[in-house]
Amino acid sequence: TTNRTFTMIKPDAVEKGYIGAILEKITSAGFKIVAMKYTQLNKRDAEKFYEVHKERPFFSDLVQFMTRGPIVSAILEKENAVEDFRALIGATNPADAAEGTIRKLFASNMAENAVHGSDSDENAAIEGAFHFSGREIY
Ligand code: CMP
Repeated sequence: TTNRTFTMIKPDAVEKGYIGAILEKITSAGFKIVAMKYTQLNKRDAEKFYEVHKERPFFSDLVQFMTRGPIVSAILEKENAVEDFRALIGATNPADAAEGTIRKLFASNMAENAVHGSDSDENAAIEGAFHFSGREIY
């Protein structure tokens, strides 16, 4: 059934000028954009968004990275959205990502990995609601 996932084009990919190329990969793969914005996370937002990682050794670097410049956040709709989007972006570490995946093409390393994709339907709903109000979703 058709459902939704949440994504961010992270600061590394925005800095390198990859917004257009990444959106092209996403829409070519059949995802429909139902919400989108260009924005910058503040420290509080990033700490809240990544709360599940707060005990990890990389947490402060992750917050620093995700707040250092603007991002594109979006809600995407497609059949089997969460799983298909994770296949499209590839493994967290671009060194392990399959050929043709967004991270293989555009990510720098494990931390600066170009894009986010929700890992479950439940988190897709939580993350989408964190970034967008109902009136911003079309
Ligand atoms: P993502 O899976 O979108 O959300 C968690 C993020 O933490 C992940 O992308 C990376 O940006 C970052 N991350 C995950 N594992 C590591 C790691 N081992 N070292 C540094 N950053 C990491």
